[in-house]
Amino acid sequence: MSTDPHKEHNFDPAILEKLGQLQEKYAAMGQDLSSYLDGLLYADYRTYWDLIHLDTLLSLQRPQTPIPDEVVFIVYHQITELYFKLALHEFERMAQAAREQNGKVEEAFLLERVRRVNRYFEALTTSFDIMVDGMEPAEFMKFRMSLLPASGFQSAQYRMIEICATSLDRIVHHNLRDQYANHSVSDVPELMAHLYWREGAVELKSGAKTLTLKQFEAKYDEELTKLALGMFHSNVRALSTKVEGGASPELVEAMRWLDINVNVNWPLAHYKSAVRYLHKDPVDIAATGGTNWQKYLPPRFQKRIFFPELWSKTELEEWGKGWVEKEVFGRG
Ligand code: HEM
Repeated sequence: MSTDPHKEHNFDPAILEKLGQLQEKYAAMGQDLSSYLDGLLYADYRTYWDLIHLDTLLSLQRPQTPIPDEVVFIVYHQITELYFKLALHEFERMAQAAREQNGKVEEAFLLERVRRVNRYFEALTTSFDIMVDGMEPAEFMKFRMSLLPASGFQSAQYRMIEICATSLDRIVHHNLRDQYANHSVSDVPELMAHLYWREGAVELKSGAKTLTLKQFEAKYDEELTKLALGMFHSNVRALSTKVEGGASPELVEAMRWLDINVNVNWPLAHYKSAVRYLHKDPVDIAATGGTNWQKYLPPRFQKRIFFPELWSKTELEEWGKGWVEKEVFGRG
C-alpha cells in the first residue's frame, strides 16, 4: 500500500462514479465519507474462518459421554437444526413480503421459496442414513441414557416450521381438525393448547405430561403462540389462497411436495432410525422423550397434512400407508 500522499493516481471513471455515489449515500445520513474511507484503509481483509465463525461453530460439539458415536448423533442433530433454520428463513421472507404488499405475495416469489424449503428437506431425508446406519447400536444404547429426558421432540424449530407452513387447525390433534377448520385469530391460544404433539407426549399409564413436554412448554410456549399469531395470515396455506388468479400447477406441485417432504418422507426417514435402535422383539425400548413412539411417529397414524385441498379423498385416506412396512421393516 502506498503511503506517499503526493503519489498520482489515475482513477478509472467508474471508480470516481462510485465514490460520488458513496458520498451521496453518507451525506444523506449526515455522515462523512472520508471517515468511512479511513475505516476501509485500516480494516483487515476478511478471512473464511471469521466470515462463517468457524471456531465458534466447531466448538459447539460437546458430547455428554466419552462414547465416540455420540459425536455423530450430536453433529447430525446440529446439521438438521441448521437446515431447519434455512427453512424458517424462507418462511419469514414470505411473511415479510406479504406484510409489505397488503398481505399478498407474488406467485413466482412464493413458488421459489417453497421450492427452497423442499430442497432443504430433501437433503435432510436423503442424509438420514447417517443416523440409521451410521452409529453402532451398542454405543447408541449406552450414550442415550446420559441424554435423558432430552429428545428431538423438543426441537422448537420443527414446531415452528409446521406453524409457518399451514393453518393451526391442520396441526391440532386429528380428532379436532374439522371442528377448528374455520377458526379465527382470537381462537389461536385455544388451538395452541391442542396441538397434536402435546397429546403425543404423555405418560402411558397416568396420561400425565412427560417431563420432556413440560420442559419444552416452559421454554417455548410463549414464543410459539406469538409466531402462530404472526403467521395467521401469512403461513404458506393462507398465502397460496391469495395468489392472483389462483395457484398455478407449479405452485400446487411444489406445495404437494412440501406436504410429502415434511409430513411423510422426513418423518419416515426419522422413524427408520427409531426402529433401528429402539425396536426389539417382544418389547420395544422406551424412547427418551417417553412417547409411545410406535404409535406416535408413523405418518399414517398422525396424518399430518398441511394442504388437504390439494389431495384426493383416497390420497388423504391412504396418507403415509404402504411405505412403513416396505421402507422401514423391509416387508412389502
Ligand atoms: C438415532 C436417531 C434417533 C432416534 C432413535 C430418535 C427417536 C425419536 C423418538 C422415539 C421420538 C418420539 C419422541 C420421544 O418419545 O422421544 C422422536 C421425536 C422426534 N425427533 Fe428423533 N430420533 C433420532 C434422531 C433425530 C434427529 C437427527 C432429529 C433432528 C432434529 C430428530 C428430531 C425429532 C423430532 C422433531 C421429533 C418430534 C417428531 C413428532 O413430534 O412427530 N430425531 N425421535
